[in-house]
Amino acid sequence: MDVLIIKGGKRLKGTVEISGAKNAALPLIAASILTSGENTINMVPDLRDVKTMGKLLTNMGAEFHYQAQRAIIDSKRINNFEAPYELVKEMRASVLVLGPMIARFGRAKVSLPGGCAIGARPINLHLMGLEKMGAKIELESGYIIASAKRLNGASLHFDTPTVTGTENLMMAAVLARGTTVIENAAREPEVIDLANALIYMGARIKGAGGSEIEVEGVDELKPIRHTVIPDRVETGTFMAIAGITGGDIIIKGCILGNLNALVIKLKETGLGLEEVEDGVRAIGQARPKAVDIETAPYPGFPTDMQAQFMALMSVAEGTSVITETIFENRFMHVAELMRMGADISFKGSTAAVRGVKKLKGANVMATDLRASASLVVAALRAEGETTIHRIYHLDRGYEKMEEKLNSLGADVRREKR
Ligand code: EPU
Repeated sequence: MDVLIIKGGKRLKGTVEISGAKNAALPLIAASILTSGENTINMVPDLRDVKTMGKLLTNMGAEFHYQAQRAIIDSKRINNFEAPYELVKEMRASVLVLGPMIARFGRAKVSLPGGCAIGARPINLHLMGLEKMGAKIELESGYIIASAKRLNGASLHFDTPTVTGTENLMMAAVLARGTTVIENAAREPEVIDLANALIYMGARIKGAGGSEIEVEGVDELKPIRHTVIPDRVETGTFMAIAGITGGDIIIKGCILGNLNALVIKLKETGLGLEEVEDGVRAIGQARPKAVDIETAPYPGFPTDMQAQFMALMSVAEGTSVITETIFENRFMHVAELMRMGADISFKGSTAAVRGVKKLKGANVMATDLRASASLVVAALRAEGETTIHRIYHLDRGYEKMEEKLNSLGADVRREKR
């Protein structure tokens, strides 16, 4: 298994290019199931999750080719309607094939994703929506078996906004008979990117990016070319890196407008953020100031940046209170940051991070994707060497992380252990 070894204490300087967003690319690949023909998606990051999605589609009979950030997908020959346990357990986002499969083929058998490191993560709202649209849903031996002749438009309401739930049901609704309204929909930029691609395919969608989305079903969609939006979590992670290393990083190819809540908080920590052509320049101070955050659905503070922000706060002047409201178990990084000398206590979903002057290198374990990113952030500041184990979590969501960090002057190497 690969480990990442980071010698901390360097002030990172230079320019970094942001990759396409993982959480936009995955639903877009799934959306290609809705058309019969060749879809080309550009700026698809070279990540383990993308490979898993590719395997899933290939396993169903689609053609999936990936090269140089471009995925070419042809779903003409799909003849197997199953997303097997072996792939869904690798990546929960596999559940995104459910909506498009029922919409186009009237059937799907998808392994029920279990809980994961950050919480139970049920998909009841996805299933509720499909049932309301007329799908028959059965659970058998850990699989969701869904069928419908043709889905019907319906009025749907989420108790809590769900990102992949909104995406799944939007993809289900585009080929349904009649109009579907999704109330309390997720408003994330990745939902908008998917809606834009679907509209280009010929779907009739209004309101994506707001909390009510209306989809008028059509009979057929056509294949498209589309470019994925930049990854806002990778952007935010590099901002946190500039903050913790007192660095000066030009982050290119990002959309600052998709990160407003994070930008406000990072500025409060003292991070300088200046817009430059096609990006932002992030200038860190010797020590950040302590700032409180509470995660919330978009446009609130993103849960996917909570762990990296906590790493930044671990060396802040003062105490920061961090509240996680989206996932019930997203503090797994706390114990690992403490191994590096951070002073953090938490009860339930609230953590108190008392900033320390110094972090020290240690052996630490990545437990999920964003937790592993927080360990990278902390390790870049820590004195001495940090070895991050189970780095495959990082590889699920960050493209060429060590290459990008080393180009900014960091000392990062990967070893097989
Ligand atoms: N929820 C339900 N029932 C459902 C669906 C969700 O109760 O049917 C709850 C969840 O348990 C959670 C909340 O609703 O408490 C929000 O979860 P959501 O469904 O929005 O999460 P997701 O769609 O499974 C996506 C991202 C996650 C990101 C969350 C929140 C993708 C592929 N994944 O997950 O990304 O943390 O939205 O923003 O888009 C990551 O990239 O590291 C990651 C975990």
